[in-house]
Formats: sequence, C-alpha cells, structure tokens
Amino acid sequence: MVFLSVHSPDELRRMYDARFSRNLDYRKAIWAVLVSDWFTKYVRPTDTVLDLGCGYGEFINQIACGKKYGMDLNPDVSGFLNPDVTLLPQDCSARWPLPDAALDVVFTSNFFEHLPDKASLGRTLREARRCLRPGGRLICLGPNIRALHGEYWDFWDHYLPLTERSLAEGLEPAGLRAVHLSVPRGEDAKTVQVMTALHRQLATQGAHRADPVVALGGGSVGDLAGFVAATYMRGVPFVQVPTTLTGQVDAAIGGKVAVNLPEGKNLVGAFHQPVAVLADVATLATLPEREYRSGLAEVAKYALTLDPELLASLEADPSSLLRREPAALGPLVARCVRAKAAVVGADERDEAGRLVLNYGHTLGHALERLGAFAGRSHGEAIALGMVFAARLSEATGRAPRGLVARHARLLSSLGLESDAPLPPTEDVLAAMRMDKKYRGGVRFVLLEDVGRPFVEDDVPEDVVRATLEAMAPMGEAEG
Ligand SMILES: NC(=O)c1ccc[n+]([C@@H]2O[C@H](COP(=O)([O-])OP(=O)(O)OC[C@H]3O[C@@H](n4cnc5c(N)ncnc54)[C@H](O)[C@@H]3O)[C@@H](O)[C@H]2O)c1
Ligand SMILES: [Zn+2]
Repeated sequence: MVFLSVHSPDELRRMYDARFSRNLDYRKAIWAVLVSDWFTKYVRPTDTVLDLGCGYGEFINQIACGKKYGMDLNPDVSGFLNPDVTLLPQDCSARWPLPDAALDVVFTSNFFEHLPDKASLGRTLREARRCLRPGGRLICLGPNIRALHGEYWDFWDHYLPLTERSLAEGLEPAGLRAVHLSVPRGEDAKTVQVMTALHRQLATQGAHRADPVVALGGGSVGDLAGFVAATYMRGVPFVQVPTTLTGQVDAAIGGKVAVNLPEGKNLVGAFHQPVAVLADVATLATLPEREYRSGLAEVAKYALTLDPELLASLEADPSSLLRREPAALGPLVARCVRAKAAVVGADERDEAGRLVLNYGHTLGHALERLGAFAGRSHGEAIALGMVFAARLSEATGRAPRGLVARHARLLSSLGLESDAPLPPTEDVLAAMRMDKKYRGGVRFVLLEDVGRPFVEDDVPEDVVRATLEAMAPMGEAEG
C-alpha cells in the first residue's frame, strides 16, 4: 500500500535524491549538535525510540538510546541507517508491526506535511498513541507554516500545511496531549502573564538549571524569553536566535531583557547575557517591509554615532541592503553587532557609556508614548529622534552645519521619513520628562560630528522647544 496518491516509492526516492543528496554532510553536522545538546534531554539511554519519517537517519543514527526503529517509505534510507536501527519500510498510516505500548519515544521532524491528507495523519497519530507506553512522548518538530516560509513549502512532496495549533487539534483526539511554548505575536508577548505561563510550563516540563531557553523570534520574543531565563530557577542559560533586523543588530545583543507593565515598557527586567546569539540573515527575507525599515533606523544609528566607515558604505549605495541581499546583510549585521558589543562591553550595566546607544531615543520614546504617534514603528520614531538630536547638536553650536542635512539624506535613502509632523510641542515635552533616563533635566545624546557622540544634560529648555517647533507643522497647538 502506497500512501502518496501521485507517485511511487521509486519516484519519491528520485525526488529526495535530487533535493537533498547535496547537503547530507551539512544536515548531519547540524543534527549532531541538536541531538547532543538538546534531544538527549528528552530521551533516556534505555528508551525504545521510533523515528517516524527517519529519512537519512540524522536523528536516529545519532541519538543515544536503547532499541531503535526507523520508519520510512523511501527505500533509499536503508543505505543510510546504522546497523542497530531496524527499518520499518512502510506507509506510517497503516498498522505498525509493533505491540501496544512498545515505545518510549516517537520522534518526527518536519514529517507530517508529507502525508497526503488529514485522514492518514489521524491514522498515523492513533498508531503512535497505541505503540507509545503510557507517559511516553511524541517529540514533534514542525511542520509549522507560521515559522517556515516560502521555499520550504515549494516542494512537490509537501501536502499538509499545519501549524502547532492545527496539529495539536489533531493530536488531542488521538489521545496525545500537546505541550507547546509559543507566545503571542510581537509586543503582546512581553507581559507578566505570558512570562508566568512560560515559567509554569518550564516547571511542569521538569526543566532544570542547565536546560537552555532558546528565543526564536524578534526582539519581543528575545526580551521575554531572556527574562524568563534570567528568573527561572534564579537563571538558566539562554540562546538568542533573532529573526528581525532589530533583533539581530540590537535587541539580541547586550543582555538587557524585560517584560512590560501596564504602567510602562520594560519596567520589569534584568541583565542576563545569552550564551550565544545565532543570527541568520536569511530569516529577514520574510520580514514585513515596515519592520525591516524599522531595523534600518537602528543601523543608521550605529553608522551615525559609532561607525563612520559603515556610514560611508551606506551613503555610497544602500541598494543591496534595500533588496535584502544576504551577501550585504551578513557583514552589515556583524558590523552593527561589533559596534553595540563594544559599547556594552565597556558599560554592561547601563551606567554611562551605554547611553550613546540611545541616540535619537529621547524624542523617539516620547513620540512612542503619545497616542498621536500610534501605529508608527519604533524605527520611524527614532528616525525623527535622530534628526531632532542632530538639529539640537547644530542649534547648540556643538556640531558643524550640514549634520542635519546628512541625517535627512541617509534616512530617506533607507526609506525613512526625516520630517514627518510632530505632535503638539507641550505634549512631546511632557512625554520626554517621563523618560526612565530623565534625572532632573532632560538628557540628550548629541553629536559633535558623525562618529562623535556625547551625553548632554543641560540643553536649555527654550532651545529644545524651539527645535521641536521648527520640526512641527505650522500652526501647531501650544501648551
Ligand atoms: N533588549 C534590548 O536591548 C532591546 C533593544 C531593542 C529593542 N528591544 C525590544 O525589542 C522589541 C521589538 O523587537 P522587533 O522590532 O524585533 O519586533 P517584534 O519582535 O515585535 O517582531 C515584529 C513582528 O515581526 C514578526 N516576525 C519576527 N520575525 C519574522 C520573520 N523572520 N519574518 C516575518 N515576520 C517576523 C513578529 O511575529 C512580529 O509580528 C521591543 O519590545 C523592544 O523593546 C530590546
Ligand atoms: Zn531602538
């Protein structure tokens, strides 16, 4: 019996050979790390394990356990499995040749999308349930159309687009309880409630001191997961895997982690450094344009304040960046990380030196606090904030003329506005005074020139006001 309606095992063999034979070594190396650093925590040395859709055996060959089974329809896989793996070459939705409760673990990785329909997925899950002992585990990586995009689904042998939610809906009737640790999208994830839910899930999963938390997502997920890791059992290791430009160049670097309160952003947090940051610029391909441009504003910030060479390269030609070419993005992200890491390394606890990273953020944060600016991105706010800081730098005579124009040119070449109308001046001033970094007088990061930032505590309020007014549209209300 063949479960693929449109092609035979032989066709399957050719299809897989064409797509995967070239990167077998690469896959094996990645799986060696996944198995040794992660999956061994869930598989005991005596467990009987079945790898469903075992493919070329990356998991089942490398996992340390008792009896090993692999199940796959592609006849080629027999040549790749170690001698201690018993191959069950069959359609997984037909009865498995195993007694009830014979398995401790059933493992699958990106497999269920290969099944032709939900009926066969249901039959497969029921067989998994039957063959697992009570308390046994189905460890299931993906498929998840929310996390895997584009090219992944462009494959003849992918039929079932599932998310962790739709898959869980299928698991429950088969008697399998799903545990997933996904969180709301974006800023909504950064709440005390979500944090507590994660703490409790770690506790019910029996997570221990050495179990790492992996933050896969944007800066919001990184801040949340980092704070969960900082506080669970007084601190467990965590790994940042940022998938937004902001995350890669900024949020994942430096160890500041936090959640929000209704009273304000990032009010509950810690300093907790990740053990590693893995940034893959390929993930940026699917980022919405607005999020991407928001990240470019932070890139412009590093260029203007810390890295004149980066500034020169952006000014020369930003087009490859705008096209998100990985060849351009890789070195760019690395450069920004170096710039931020150098500053953080000199002032990890945010006492003085780290303030320069706040360039453009005094006004930026104030704008974000104002309803009138709702719906705009962080990057749009700090783009205006940087123009404002440059104007202040010129107005106080600390910077040469031309700095503002240079900001405007750079930002507009990156698709960011530099002269959008501001909310009423008095509202902006009031919002600025609410800044965490406000101590007595409003504190600004200004530039003596590009690459030469300094912190200024006493910009006269009338200069601030006049500069804001010069940026606000004509006839704006006053306090
Ligand atoms: N800790 C720090 O030092 C630091 C620094 C800067 C920002 N932050 C925090 O980071 C957060 C903002 O992070 P952000 O700008 O990355 O936004 P985000 O994490 O809120 O993500 C923005 C949106 O993009 C989606 N997304 C993420 N990766 C994607 C991808 N590869 N393809 C398609 N969509 C994707 C997310 O689901 C979300 O809807 C804020 O909470 C901010 O306070 C922290
Ligand atoms: Zn920022």
